[in-house]
Amino acid sequence: MIIGGDHRLVLRLALVVASFVVLVQSHVPNTWEATTFNRMLALVQPDPIVLKYHNGSLLKGNVTVHVHWYGNFTPTHRSVIVDFIQSLSSIPHSHHSPPSVFSWWRTTARYRGGPCTLTVGNQTLDPTYSLGKSLNTSHLRALASTQKGQNPTKGNAIHVVLTSADVAVEGFCMSRCGTHGSGRVRNNRVVFLWVGNPATQCPGECAWPFHQPVYGPQTPPLVPPNGDVGVDGMVISLATVVAGAVTNPFGNGYYQGSVIAPLEAVSTCTGIFGKGAYPGYTGDVLVDNVTGASYNVVGVHGRKFLLPAMWDPVTSTCKTLV
Ligand SMILES: *[C@@H]1O[C@H](CO)[C@@H](O)[C@H](O)[C@H]1NC(C)=O
Ligand SMILES: *[C@@H]1O[C@H](CO)[C@@H](O)[C@H](O)[C@H]1NC(C)=O
Ligand SMILES: *[C@@H]1O[C@H](CO)[C@@H](O)[C@H](O)[C@H]1NC(C)=O
Ligand SMILES: *[C@@H]1O[C@H](CO)[C@@H](O)[C@H](O)[C@H]1NC(C)=O
Ligand SMILES: *[C@@H]1O[C@H](CO)[C@@H](O)[C@H](O)[C@H]1NC(C)=O
Repeated sequence: MIIGGDHRLVLRLALVVASFVVLVQSHVPNTWEATTFNRMLALVQPDPIVLKYHNGSLLKGNVTVHVHWYGNFTPTHRSVIVDFIQSLSSIPHSHHSPPSVFSWWRTTARYRGGPCTLTVGNQTLDPTYSLGKSLNTSHLRALASTQKGQNPTKGNAIHVVLTSADVAVEGFCMSRCGTHGSGRVRNNRVVFLWVGNPATQCPGECAWPFHQPVYGPQTPPLVPPNGDVGVDGMVISLATVVAGAVTNPFGNGYYQGSVIAPLEAVSTCTGIFGKGAYPGYTGDVLVDNVTGASYNVVGVHGRKFLLPAMWDPVTSTCKTLV
């Protein structure tokens, strides 16, 4: 497969793996339009990559992240993901290597408007599958809208819906691993995102590199840093959509390509986790000597995560940390 070029124009063929839907806010309050795009196979990106700014608002300042756990999540699953969200805005005690989740997230502050500080807000458990085991976008919107913590005086909020491995979601695996969008709840503009657990439905698409990819070069899977292919895969998708959500919350922030099929802060760097990445190879990452797990950042409670590169607007490159 491709790789190469000179130093100025390296063609990057980012492998498969993830695709995302952007929900474009409609002019009609309380409706959401979903526009799906599919990048199952490959994506050729010239370097330097430029995400254009489209004059809209970004999410900045203090943002509360409310989480709706839909279906069967164990306390261990939940603690991995909550630790990840908390790590995004937790200043590490030591700045020695390895790099921190905090340093990964700090790149979002280089987009206009300064930093975005995330705090975990209310968590809602929904172990009885209140809307069934087969959901569409209307259902996701409804779940996001019924979360606790809608008080507009509390400022910006992101409403996250996470679905367990046994929940089918329209477009999941076929065209997307996660979604973000915006809409209105009781006349307040809210940002919404969804990520599904791909463990049984499509680990090769939405949990690569912890599972053999469906397409492309067949490299051996990496050991997931929290020991769970599905949940560690969800962290990659969550990282991708949360970075997209704060830098392009309303469809008029930073992206390249069309408004209905944008490439955003992290989705533009799909498949890149470290220096020297090429299709099917994550690039250089760290390996835990004891568990053999691959990671590139640490967060709260000593948790290790493997996070994708994020586009840096100052250097116009996909920034890798190790
Ligand atoms: C942003 O605003 C400027 C000045 O109003 C305008 O010239 C430009 O076309 C706008 N860009 C986009 C992407 O909307
Ligand atoms: C964010 O919250 C902290 C305290 O939790 C406060 O000191 C700070 O001023 C807030 N920042 C903004 C931009 O509101
Ligand atoms: C989602 O499914 C429900 C029925 O379960 C249906 O009423 C609704 O129109 C569907 N929404 C979309 C956007 O397909
Ligand atoms: C959590 O939900 C409760 C009840 O709806 C609400 O009073 C509180 O403000 C919410 N917390 C946050 C951080 O929004
Ligand atoms: C892991 O092993 C390598 C090579 O044996 C060694 O250089 C490194 O210090 C070890 N790291 C830890 C954290 O033990």
